[in-house]
Amino acid sequence: MTDSAATPLPSTRPVALVTGPTSGLGTAFARLLAERGHDLVLVARDEARLHALADELAGAYGVRAEIIAADLASEAGRDAVSERLAKGVDVLVNNAGFLTDGEFWDADLDLLRGQLGVNVTAVLELTHAALPPMRAAGRGTIVNVASVSGLFTGPASTYSASKAWVVKFSEGLAHKVAADGVRMVALCPGFMDTEFHPRGGQDVSGVPKHLWLDTAEVARTALEDAEKGRVVSIPGRRYRLWTTLDRLKPRRLVWRA
Ligand SMILES: NC(=O)c1ccc[n+]([C@@H]2O[C@H](COP(=O)([O-])OP(=O)(O)OC[C@H]3O[C@@H](n4cnc5c(N)ncnc54)[C@H](OP(=O)(O)O)[C@@H]3O)[C@@H](O)[C@H]2O)c1
Repeated sequence: MTDSAATPLPSTRPVALVTGPTSGLGTAFARLLAERGHDLVLVARDEARLHALADELAGAYGVRAEIIAADLASEAGRDAVSERLAKGVDVLVNNAGFLTDGEFWDADLDLLRGQLGVNVTAVLELTHAALPPMRAAGRGTIVNVASVSGLFTGPASTYSASKAWVVKFSEGLAHKVAADGVRMVALCPGFMDTEFHPRGGQDVSGVPKHLWLDTAEVARTALEDAEKGRVVSIPGRRYRLWTTLDRLKPRRLVWRA
């Protein structure tokens, strides 16, 4: 699955592995990390888009990009990425993820298993593979992309639950790995205009303009918060206020929402 035609790594530059860089927030992370002088390992299913991005970043920033075409819903896909991570990277961005629409009881069980595979199991396994070399080197950064919906109780329950797992997992580990020089942050963005909602079949036409976040700004906030040692990163003042107020609500009101 690794693209052997890509320029071989390593080089003297730090290396960042980004999952889901073929669109949306992942593209923003890949661009920002390339701009900051990182070589990249790009992981997603769409090989043509991976190649196009690798070429674009190499041309714009003079960095090298390795490609792993992998389906993170599958064990084989996750294993291929873990194998690369075990060789060592400086930054891991666990960004790939997706939403499912409709009622839980009507949903296709294989799709829900795939959602757990990408949103949860991949974060677990890729972090497990990345940490030993990072701890040995005494440095590294892991960004786990969750969502504000991981902080709320919402109707998209399997999605919210998967993102709540990412938040709790990161919160539990961050302080331990910080002792070894590794930064870990759970990123909890609100609405971003990407392929995410159309792919998940969600109509977001009624979402007010002021709630939409810019992907480049979200990626920058995540890396800055990681540098500051923050464990949970919530981009945008409105969302920080909203999540704080939600924590004060009585649970019975939350459950009826
Ligand atoms: N957009 C929002 O409003 C929003 C809000 C909060 C949190 N988030 C989170 O932000 C992250 C990025 O989402 P986005 O908005 O940028 O969505 P997006 O535009 O749909 O991008 C999702 C990325 O994940 C990859 N991906 C999906 N399924 C995959 C699989 N089975 N194996 C490997 N890669 C897979 C896709 O690549 P391929 O199709 O090429 O595989 C794509 O690059 C997700 O974790 C999402 O939950 C999004």
